[in-house]
Amino acid sequence: MRAVDIIIRKRDHFQLTKEEIKFFISGVVDGSIPDYQASAWAMAVLLNGMTDQETTELTLAMAESGETLDLSEIAPIVVDKHSTGGVGDKVTLVVTPLVASCGLPVGKMSGRGLGFSGGTLDKLDSIPGYRSDLSKQEFLDQLKEFGFVLTGQSADLAPADRILYKLRDVTGTVDSLPLIASSVMSKKIAGGANAIVLDVKVGNGAFMKTIEDARKLAETMIAIGKLSGRKVEALLSDMNQPLGVAVGNAVELREAIDTLHDGGPADFHEHCLVIASHMLLLGKKVSTLDEARAMAEDALKSGRAWEEFRALVIRQGGDVSFIDHPEKLPGAAVTYEMKAERDGFIAELRAQTVGETAVSLGAGRAKKEDSIDLGVGMYVRVKVGDQVKKGDVLFTILAKSEADAQAAAKRLATGIQWSDKPVEPLPLFYATKS
Ligand code: URA
Repeated sequence: MRAVDIIIRKRDHFQLTKEEIKFFISGVVDGSIPDYQASAWAMAVLLNGMTDQETTELTLAMAESGETLDLSEIAPIVVDKHSTGGVGDKVTLVVTPLVASCGLPVGKMSGRGLGFSGGTLDKLDSIPGYRSDLSKQEFLDQLKEFGFVLTGQSADLAPADRILYKLRDVTGTVDSLPLIASSVMSKKIAGGANAIVLDVKVGNGAFMKTIEDARKLAETMIAIGKLSGRKVEALLSDMNQPLGVAVGNAVELREAIDTLHDGGPADFHEHCLVIASHMLLLGKKVSTLDEARAMAEDALKSGRAWEEFRALVIRQGGDVSFIDHPEKLPGAAVTYEMKAERDGFIAELRAQTVGETAVSLGAGRAKKEDSIDLGVGMYVRVKVGDQVKKGDVLFTILAKSEADAQAAAKRLATGIQWSDKPVEPLPLFYATKS
């Protein structure tokens, strides 16, 4: 078998066999298939799609490309969550300590930014010393002893995804249903959690732009999860506008800290409570969604969720003074307030434009070896449906230079649509699937 023939078959719309998929994935992992062929193949998949059968085979091949964890010895139920990627999505930073503080073990392996969407590990990098490179054994030990671990994908787990994820980020091959489904579910299967809540984002700032596509992605991931004996629930949530206010890395961590203190922007706070409630219910900590909600609210109000996060940071080597005093977190040289030039209602606030602007400021990567600037980003001061007066602040831009800030403001202006008439706010969630 030759990699080039498999690329050509996908380019020419043929269905790949299980053997071809396994051959390709093992070649990606052992290095016999170079980056350029893996990227060409990913583009062929993005353009021509995959059948459900191919997507399932791809997911299993990726999950089996490294070790898979069996957590049954550690706890009867370990819960996990995963977002398909959005702008301002710092949900993991809040819900994982929140749920763990309720006594439900959480074993979470997060990722870095992908395309215009942010990544939890990049946000955690704002805390000096925080280790997100735990080995498999450290992951297991920490989960067993403390019931909570939040790290990156260990080198042994789903290595195929780790390699492809980095390539997809910089080759325009992110927004493909089979590639997203296999990326998410291979990690979840390898990571061993048996109850998984998926936050499937939909809208212009998500990789799935329509509810139909998001629904199909959710159904595909749920079916793959069931095949592997996992309980999976998916929530379809809005990503037409950024979630919360902060977009960037350190700024998003600050917002997560505020929320763990039972504050934070109302939409983000509510989003976290909903996701956490579903995790608590799926993990059988409670028997109704109402009980789950009450438990989640109490974890924030009582300070338990915050204490859990603090303990996690200390355990994983982070300098806790940076989260106790978030003003110590990385900042930016220039703060620029972009103001409304007219009165009106916000009809559109394109999350994709906001995400791309954050990347252009340095908060994301253009090439896989790029380092990112943890201090840049923005605060989005308005939401769809808001009534705005001329001179009101729309965005507070945090940039390396005045020129970057001006360029960002110009770009952000293209993401706003105005209306003279009142506009309905956007919902947070569209549907739940299991
Ligand atoms: N999250 C992932 O882990 N993979 C994707 O492809 C998209 C979002």
